[in-house]
Amino acid sequence: MKKQVILCSVLCMVILVLATCTKDNFKPLNQVPELPDTNYNYSEPLVALSSGFSPDENPTTDAGATLGRVLFYDKKLSLNNTVSCATCHKQVHGFSDAKVVSEGFEGRITTRNAPHLVNLYESDAYFWDGRTGTLEELALQPVENHIEMGIESMENLTTKLTEQDYYSPLFEEAFGTSEVTPERISKALAQFLRSMVSYDSKWDKIDGTSILADGEEWTDMEELGRAIFFSWDRGGCVNCHSGRSLAGWGTTFANIGLDEEYADNGVGELERDRNGMFKVPSLRNIALTAPYMHDGRFATLEEVVEHYNSGVQAHPNLDWSLRNGNNFFFPGDIVFPFVEPGASSDIDEPVRRNFTEVEKRALVAFLRALTDEEFITDPKFSDPFVY
Ligand code: HEC
Ligand code: HEC
Repeated sequence: MKKQVILCSVLCMVILVLATCTKDNFKPLNQVPELPDTNYNYSEPLVALSSGFSPDENPTTDAGATLGRVLFYDKKLSLNNTVSCATCHKQVHGFSDAKVVSEGFEGRITTRNAPHLVNLYESDAYFWDGRTGTLEELALQPVENHIEMGIESMENLTTKLTEQDYYSPLFEEAFGTSEVTPERISKALAQFLRSMVSYDSKWDKIDGTSILADGEEWTDMEELGRAIFFSWDRGGCVNCHSGRSLAGWGTTFANIGLDEEYADNGVGELERDRNGMFKVPSLRNIALTAPYMHDGRFATLEEVVEHYNSGVQAHPNLDWSLRNGNNFFFPGDIVFPFVEPGASSDIDEPVRRNFTEVEKRALVAFLRALTDEEFITDPKFSDPFVY
């Protein structure tokens, strides 16, 4: 009897272990999204932001973005039903991954750190090297990517989605008929991505006063950090991280001297003479999106600040604003008319900010004040699937 009990428990354990092992490799296809009776409001916040938020060919509607939300969280968009967009862009992490590089559908890893997604409607160049110009163009690239989601045939994908009962009404509401096409998938995903707007951090609430509306206090450290960040020379961060999203004017690219020679040259992989240049990322929700940089090399904001303080390397393309002295040569997008042809860009040393410990802590305190709690808990951006 005792023997039987032992045998039985061993067997149960084996089954349990097997079940957990295989769970991720063979996800069943029976998850169904739970959606509100009335669609969440995705379009109005964008309208309020006025100018050029949605292209005429693909205006953001509540039904379109609702479909986009389901697609964003649906693992059926990957070849073996194990990976969705949200696997690498998680809401709790400001729609980034908490990993240096991310794992795709077969466990293979991406070559770059998954960027956090925020205020994408402002940008006109996506990915770390800016290789894609619109969200519509971008949306199907991860799906087809052989590391990320591995769908080789769009026809197979549209057939697979058509077979899911829940898609037919969603496509119909968004586009008039229930037909599933790659173009509609990309349009709906783009609408959802475009609706991910975040402007509700502590920093957004200061209005010349240190006591905020909800009784929170804007601390002296946060204020000191803000002042350093926005000084053109002391912190100099605003030279690149500017505008409301602290993401650059429009879209900008810069070399920040992470290395003297880059293993991944970013824009330089696509265009000569632009080695080591990467898209200036938005700093909104940055406290949630570690690790940092295109290769995820820094684990903390303290490490990032230390890089700008003492770690900037003398790369030939190092941005002018991270060099000592007045250098009027702009290796970046902006070229002043008075640049002398052939002017050498490597004459100036990399900047050494010599921040005090208090200044470093203040910068981090300011960066932490850029978190928008509403954005990372808002149900309209959350996972609709019930597991
Ligand atoms: C396996 C991980 C993974 C999956 C799955 C994934 N992504 Fe990404 N995503 C990345 C990585 C890595 C990058 C950066 C790639 C680069 O810059 O070369 C990226 C970049 C992006 C960007 C560019 C952001 C910017 O600011 O330029 C967007 C938008 C995006 N992904 C949306 C999506 C969507 C939509 C899906 C689902 C259809 C998706 N991703 C699926 C890892 C992933
Ligand atoms: C010359 C332009 C420039 C300046 C000046 C600059 N940055 Fe950056 N910043 C960038 C670029 C470009 C990246 C991405 C670089 C990469 O991944 O190779 C970046 C990345 C970051 C990141 C990581 C973002 C992420 O998503 O991984 C943080 C945090 C940051 N910068 C904060 C600051 C602070 C704080 C300052 C001022 C002390 C500053 N930056 C000054 C251009 C700049």
